[in-house]
Amino acid sequence: MRTMNVAVVGATGAVGRTMLDVLAQRGFPVGAVHAVASERSRDKRVAFAGRELAVEPLPTFDFSGVDVALFSAGGSTSLAHAPRAAAAGAVVVDNTSAFRRDADVPLVVPEVNPGDVADRPRGIIANPNCSTIQMVVALAPLHAHARIRRIVVATYQSVSGAGTRAMDELRRTSIDALDGKAVVAGPVFPHPIAFNCLPQIDVFEDDGYTKEEHKMMFETRKIFHDPSIRVSATCVRVPVLVGHAEAVNVELEGPISPEEARALLAGAPGVELVDAPAERRYPMQSLCAGRDPVLVGRIRRDPSRENALDLWIAADNLRKGAALNAVQIAEILLAEGR
Ligand code: A2P
Repeated sequence: MRTMNVAVVGATGAVGRTMLDVLAQRGFPVGAVHAVASERSRDKRVAFAGRELAVEPLPTFDFSGVDVALFSAGGSTSLAHAPRAAAAGAVVVDNTSAFRRDADVPLVVPEVNPGDVADRPRGIIANPNCSTIQMVVALAPLHAHARIRRIVVATYQSVSGAGTRAMDELRRTSIDALDGKAVVAGPVFPHPIAFNCLPQIDVFEDDGYTKEEHKMMFETRKIFHDPSIRVSATCVRVPVLVGHAEAVNVELEGPISPEEARALLAGAPGVELVDAPAERRYPMQSLCAGRDPVLVGRIRRDPSRENALDLWIAADNLRKGAALNAVQIAEILLAEGR
């Protein structure tokens, strides 16, 4: 059986560790596996498939012989090191926003636009933003039915999207709050994240939207190859460890009933329909965390607008929102016979 040599850059982080887990769980045919992180982690080891890998420092890591390099160590790290990984012959699957806007870098969700993987002149493929991935997986079947005209989305994003330090900050500040101690915000979040929701993810831009919101607005159009889709997003950080939820209002060019939408979504790749309100069954972070599918439910007709539906979506941001999507891209490379 053909194998691929894999490097995970950011292997000590929340997404990097999940990448290693997903590679092992899916039985990806790895040859050599390299766990790469910063100099700080030189003496660390990380778990992979029942064994331990010694962490290799990125500055001196040689990508020769690596077939696929999964990067999730921050945008500046990708900008500095992904091009040299590609020059050494590895295909880079980059989980940061460093290259997503570049016209010569495909932005891929395997359930939606797998064919875009083939067109990668720089040897770099971008993994979309976590909130974008789960939204387009859920909306692709509706888009195929009657083209999307407009999306209005509000997100409820867990702290793991901001990394392991953010998860530590939620745990620490929650305990402090429950113990009646003063909650000191930071260093990751600008305000208390325990028992609070922050309507800011990433930095603000001139138009009043945040960079995270801009990512959803731009990336949706790029993945669907449709610059005419209008998107408005509000991204909110909530005190949840793992799993992002989204309230999505979608307007199509033609009619669609909630029943039709349910039928389309029930058989859609990567989607699990969880839509039985009478039984109190609907997507939640507690249902999606640790699992692969994008859960979709609360599907109803928007009475305020023609051809529009409201949906509620939840998915594991570390898995489908990051690590799983990257490994699925690696599986396309494997099938390509790279
Ligand atoms: P390290 O643990 O050595 O700092 P998270 O988003 O969960 O905080 O994880 C970030 C990941 O990115 C970690 O694996 C971290 O490694 C890695 N990382 C951060 N900065 C660098 C860097 N300059 N070079 C290599 N890896 C980095």
